[in-house]
Amino acid sequence: MAARTPVFAAAVLLAMTFSMNTNAQVTLREDNIDQVLAELTLKEKATLVVGAGWKSMLSGTVNLVGGVPVPGAAGMTRTVARLGIPAIVLSDGPAGVRIAPVRKGEKGRTYFCTGFPTGTLLSSTWNADMVRAVGAAIGEEARDYGIDVMLAPGMNIHRNPLCGRNFEYFSEDPVLSGRIAAAYVDGVQSRGVGTSVKHFAANNQETNRFWNDARVSEEALRGLYLRNFEIVIKESRPWTVMSSYNRLNGTHTQQDRRLLTEILRDEWGFEGLVMTDWTGKRDTPAQISAGNDLMEPGLDTQVSELVRSVRKGELDEALLDVCVRRVLELIVKTNTFKGHVPSNEPDLEAHAEVAREAAAEGIILLKNESGALPLAPGLRLALFGNASYSLLAGGTGSGHVNRPYVVDIEDGLDDAGYEFDAALAGTYHSFISDNLPRVTASTRMLGSPAAPEMPLTCALVEASVSACDAALVAISRQAGEGGDRHLEGDFLLTDAEKRMIADVCEVYHASGKKVIVVLNVGGVVETASWKELPDAILLAWQPGEEGGHAIADILSGAVNPSGRLPVTLPVDYFDIPSSRNFPYDYKGRGSMGAGNEKAGAGVPNVGYTEYAEGLDVGYRYFLHSGVPVSYPFGFGLSYTTFVQSEPEFLSEKDGDVTARVSVTNTGTVPGKDVVMIMNPWLEAFAKTKLLQPGETETVVLKYHRYE
Ligand code: GLC
Repeated sequence: MAARTPVFAAAVLLAMTFSMNTNAQVTLREDNIDQVLAELTLKEKATLVVGAGWKSMLSGTVNLVGGVPVPGAAGMTRTVARLGIPAIVLSDGPAGVRIAPVRKGEKGRTYFCTGFPTGTLLSSTWNADMVRAVGAAIGEEARDYGIDVMLAPGMNIHRNPLCGRNFEYFSEDPVLSGRIAAAYVDGVQSRGVGTSVKHFAANNQETNRFWNDARVSEEALRGLYLRNFEIVIKESRPWTVMSSYNRLNGTHTQQDRRLLTEILRDEWGFEGLVMTDWTGKRDTPAQISAGNDLMEPGLDTQVSELVRSVRKGELDEALLDVCVRRVLELIVKTNTFKGHVPSNEPDLEAHAEVAREAAAEGIILLKNESGALPLAPGLRLALFGNASYSLLAGGTGSGHVNRPYVVDIEDGLDDAGYEFDAALAGTYHSFISDNLPRVTASTRMLGSPAAPEMPLTCALVEASVSACDAALVAISRQAGEGGDRHLEGDFLLTDAEKRMIADVCEVYHASGKKVIVVLNVGGVVETASWKELPDAILLAWQPGEEGGHAIADILSGAVNPSGRLPVTLPVDYFDIPSSRNFPYDYKGRGSMGAGNEKAGAGVPNVGYTEYAEGLDVGYRYFLHSGVPVSYPFGFGLSYTTFVQSEPEFLSEKDGDVTARVSVTNTGTVPGKDVVMIMNPWLEAFAKTKLLQPGETETVVLKYHRYE
């Protein structure tokens, strides 16, 4: 347009300026991401791929005030107000929303969240519908508290029972893990809240977790450690993936382009965002180049590092744009972007019912002889073991939840109409309250270690037997992020615990009375050396805030147990192939796992774990090795009996299979059964409805067989 006069030129200039200003007033919408991308400055782009820092999480731990919408939420993204780009809120964790339970200046107001059963118990349900319902309840609480993305589910394979975070993870089997994760993701996201499947990938230990190099064969990587992530990506649509801290075959997963772009996106079709896990800065430009879109919690130095790297021509801005686009695509999906005003009033009562039902559905009956269970109503019981009075509802670390309450086993049985040896209960209550760890800002957000187990005297046992009809012995184990478990006194029962079981069984059996052991544990414990002693054994894992009610529902027969093992319980820890390469020293036996001499030293890029066992993880090993196990993968008893037909394969095309199995309840009480298609490894599973005695259900399984 030729300028005719100075006035005209000025008018044109003004119009151009205005139009530029108008462009500069572009506001992010779902349909104008390209336009916004074009508007962003380099600094703004770098801002968007780096989280807003630790303030949000720390405001929950040390109760910093101000500037964060949800104190205690793990992290946030950053705003670009000029273009209407809000910060969104990210929160842990897999067993429920983790935020600060109280806020400064809000006396009397609480922000409790429902403590759901931990991951291993959810997979023990083998019930995708039940897990979806848990996910939906968690999604509702996240929505109501203003959370946009849940940093869950945790889903690394149980490679070895000593991994400190196995309580958060689902299984030794990738099909069970992947499909339970997919149900969880569907549930949470059905409430308009995103998920972050984690930790991608091969994060199967806590020792030296920031630097450990997981050395995994391609066969084991594809067949086990990536397989469950492949399933969850292909069978649900998680909004995000969280890359892990560790290295994988020499490269940090956070900057591994083959993993994050070539496999995750090009092969599996993932269209969402990848964010890092939470601690430490690595090579930020390399992370962007690899397709890791968001650095969490985010450090200001990462913003400047990216700007510098682009300006120096080291990082192609086009690669940065790819990540920025995915951040914008995530933001426009969120409730925060849509202007949703959180109610801060989630329906905790309704969610507690979901937590109780899920816990009962996942509790596993390992042993039930001489009619020990279900308990007759109204019995007087002697409850031994700390966990009878102080149940471990969940694990520690980012998987902790600030629950409104925890129903202990005593409470649950009390509500079910049972009576107790009051003197014994009083002794335990006093011991526990004298020995419970002090509540601190840190334990508020990360959970507390368990109190030491009360030493039990024979006198206490003998004093109880005459007035009681049966005895219950609770064995408990805490576990958590940041550290792996021990062999002595953790995987193995302590001598005092073994003596407790033996003494109670001796005294009660001498009086013709039954003994039930309840395992309230975050991970697998040794069972073979003592399981012959009690009449019944219940594996309750860490069953959430309603755990005591759920355990009582099973013990009383109100719910017929239908949980099945998602992991193998070995006879001996050293029967497990990975025991030869798990980085925990156990008094000279086994190995530290070559190269882990500095394990835990936090020395950058030092320490590695050889996954020398390859695919020989869990039942995959025990099936072909002939080595006996204490309880096999998939095991679990019921109060009734079932007969299943052989699977009938109706169709198979390009890996898509339809099969059917008929299941009949041949016992005398209603119950649910689990159908598993093993070929020879798990291909598909389904849980029946509650079948009445004599009732048959034809279960149709439609699934993809992953080669
Ligand atoms: C932790 C955990 C991760 C969690 C994140 C935020 O280090 O590894 O699971 O979501 O930080 O708390």
